[in-house]
Amino acid sequence: MSNYHVKTLEEYFQVYRKSVRNPELFWEEIAEEHFVWRKKWNNVLSYDFTKPEVKWFEGAKLNITENCIDRHLQIRGDKTAILFEPNNPDEEAEHISYKELHKRVCKFANVLKENGIKKGDRVCVYLPMIPELAISVLACARIGAVHSVVFAGFSSTALSTRINDCEAKMVITSDGSYRGAKTIDLKGIVDEALESCECIDTVLVAKRIDSEINMKEGRDKWLQPLLDKASENCDPEIMDAEDPLFILYTSGSTGSPKGMLHTTAGYMIYTAYTFKNVFNYKENDVYWCTADIGWITGHSYIVYGPLANGATTVMFEGVPSYPDFGRFWEIVEKHKVNQFYTAPTAIRSLAKEKLDFVDQYDLSSLKVLGTVGEPINEEAWHWYNDNVGNKKSPIVDTWWQTETGGMMISPMPYITPTKPTYATLPLPGVQLALMDENGEEIKGNQVDGRLCVKYPWPSMARTIWGNHQRYKDTYFSAFENKYFTGDGALRDEVGYYRITGRVDDVIIVSGHNLGTAPIEDAINEHPAVAESAIVGFPHDVKGNALYGYVILKDVGESRNHDNLRKEINQIITEHIGPIAKLNKIQFTVGLPKTRSGKIMRRILRKIAHNELDNLGDVSTLLNPEVVQSIIDNRL
Ligand code: WTA
Repeated sequence: MSNYHVKTLEEYFQVYRKSVRNPELFWEEIAEEHFVWRKKWNNVLSYDFTKPEVKWFEGAKLNITENCIDRHLQIRGDKTAILFEPNNPDEEAEHISYKELHKRVCKFANVLKENGIKKGDRVCVYLPMIPELAISVLACARIGAVHSVVFAGFSSTALSTRINDCEAKMVITSDGSYRGAKTIDLKGIVDEALESCECIDTVLVAKRIDSEINMKEGRDKWLQPLLDKASENCDPEIMDAEDPLFILYTSGSTGSPKGMLHTTAGYMIYTAYTFKNVFNYKENDVYWCTADIGWITGHSYIVYGPLANGATTVMFEGVPSYPDFGRFWEIVEKHKVNQFYTAPTAIRSLAKEKLDFVDQYDLSSLKVLGTVGEPINEEAWHWYNDNVGNKKSPIVDTWWQTETGGMMISPMPYITPTKPTYATLPLPGVQLALMDENGEEIKGNQVDGRLCVKYPWPSMARTIWGNHQRYKDTYFSAFENKYFTGDGALRDEVGYYRITGRVDDVIIVSGHNLGTAPIEDAINEHPAVAESAIVGFPHDVKGNALYGYVILKDVGESRNHDNLRKEINQIITEHIGPIAKLNKIQFTVGLPKTRSGKIMRRILRKIAHNELDNLGDVSTLLNPEVVQSIIDNRL
């Protein structure tokens, strides 16, 4: 598959200008290349940001798995599609060729059909990073079912909320998972979740850890015997360009998680082209993204983008610290990885360990390094550049979101000069705007503002499942005729972008989006808690960590505070998952509030950041006296 035909920075600017002058022509030319269309489109784009409604390639018919698998069978059938590296380094890696992948996806797709799954049905996938995860996602896409992958670190409550929201008919899970030296009882979590889900008819269970689990009669089925019996042939369901491909939940600043809906043709083209260009992927390269398929990064850049390019994509089941902190680099050496894509949190945690963990491995295969999910600080950038890239592999700092489906701002390796902490330039086809608080676009360079996108791109989410109004309110109401990202950004003197962080109540912890509201709701369920507020504060490994301010009811006052802290974190773990645990919990007599009763998080944030000099005017608060008491007792 070819690329944007860009080899120099000058050419990038030419292509970029072309993509702005005539976006439809730009994307149409890309769609014309190499993809398999059962029928071509009648219209490249129609959109109206006031509704908002966006349609790409209307009239086209296709199946994304035909593009990701079947298309490659003749020319690269024996090439490894998925290279599975198990948690335990003594267990052998599995090389799944395109032919083998085709067979396994078809079999799985037939199992889905035999269990009543039809086009448009939602299937919840709750699996560890084993091949069945990628295969089940592709099997859904094969038959037009809508997959909704839930990260297997989420709790049973988080799982049931997501299952109920999209009314899934089936859950695909495993008997358990390995995580470093630990095992996790995934099936037990599913059983608990399903106690509050009416919509699930079938649970398919993959065997991974050989543990004793409960199988509920009539509902739960072992996957392998069904696969063994299933046919290897399964014609792809022919989908419309705008048919739903998947739902993936992401946290919002308020309320329940948002089921972002992505559709077929635009998502396919966009992830394929960004993958190819941002990683400079060449035919025999081995590419590795360390994310989990439970997040958008895994959807777009472990599964769809790489496979649409006929790439070899590594899937790693384990963690960077097991059996020791050299694991990532051991894998790079072992599989001669050429492109390596990870999160700043992982880099920061490895940078704390002895350099010997890196230096003992041969990393000379690496050509491009990537980061995603949160801002990368200067120190981590240099550590990555010096010790992993040996100063010769460009670092692509890719900015994007679950909502954008694919990368939006990123250097192109060997073309865009990199600059630490900067995601640099928008990719061709991406039209950005920085907005001020009055809703005016800020032109020129050396400015900062709220980051918006002012023209549609093919892989944007089309709606929030079941709640289009919320989609409109969240993304298209802050600024007229623009998609608002929720991030702040600055544009430097040459036009490079640097993401400065969220401007709403979403906090990015270890690269994971966490909304404050659901965590506060969980805390407030503790019988001793009257009220709570969460803010983020800087953390040297996680980027941000969570600081909770908690008001206790009378019954809590006499309790041991350390025990209460443990109980509160336990409740959070049960409701959301361990990723949302609080690092600091301060018990307080009150929270600063406006006269209308709104918590002034800005003040709490400053106190948690230890920025006490510029708290701003607190005299207009309902309860200004409470601020001093919070300062005096801060942790
Ligand atoms: C943040 C992950 C700085 C940002 C693909 C965004 C980043 C949110 C970067 C989306 C980056 C992502 N530099 N910040 N390179 N990439 N972010 O939905 O705040 O899990 O809005 O998608 O992560 O997180 P999400």
